[in-house]
Amino acid sequence: MIDCDMKRVIFATSNEGKMKEIRLLLADLDVEVLSLKEAGISVSIVEDGETFEENALIKVRTVGMEKEAQGAVILADDSGLEVDYLNKAPGVYSARYMGEDTSYTIKNQAIIEQLSKAVGEERSARFVCVIAALLPDGRTLTTRATIEGQIGYREEGSNGFGYDPILYLPEYHTTTAGLSMEEKNRISHRGKALRQMKERLIDGGVI
Ligand code: IMP
Repeated sequence: MIDCDMKRVIFATSNEGKMKEIRLLLADLDVEVLSLKEAGISVSIVEDGETFEENALIKVRTVGMEKEAQGAVILADDSGLEVDYLNKAPGVYSARYMGEDTSYTIKNQAIIEQLSKAVGEERSARFVCVIAALLPDGRTLTTRATIEGQIGYREEGSNGFGYDPILYLPEYHTTTAGLSMEEKNRISHRGKALRQMKERLIDGGVI
């Protein structure tokens, strides 16, 4: 039977991995989860904010202006790596750091080199994720979570993507690239921020 009142959630991403994660998280709810493509939306989003919150809100507001998005809850994320020794760089510029087309082997090596004189606590770093929601009534919400670690002395692990091989988690004796996808989702910045957002939406009676 088709449920005409079924709530629609659009996740503003073109990343299939992120779609898989959100579908899994919301699988126990009576909601239809759509990617931008599935919702029939194609927009270019200019991420020119200076904080993760600003960028995540830019994404949901841009998508929210599309007619296909009316009545839906729109979600988006923005994330990156903060290295304390580098004054929290690359931060919101994580994807663009040293150029969008530069390989992560080169980016990761450059960060390790810049920390060649840093020891112990000076190597602290984290992945940050902000999830933004635009509700059908125009209100917005954000949640933020981190996964704390240290920049490793060398790359390690072959799972994950991006900066995963250099964020070392002392309590796991490996980097986030050394964790399985399930383990990483359980403790990651994105997993935690998404679960917080799910709770806020349920508590507010939105989904
Ligand atoms: P975006 O939020 O999809 O724009 O991602 C920002 C950038 O942050 C990515 O391109 C990666 O460079 C970095 N990043 C965010 N989350 C992770 C992660 O879980 N592992 C490794 N790199 C990440």
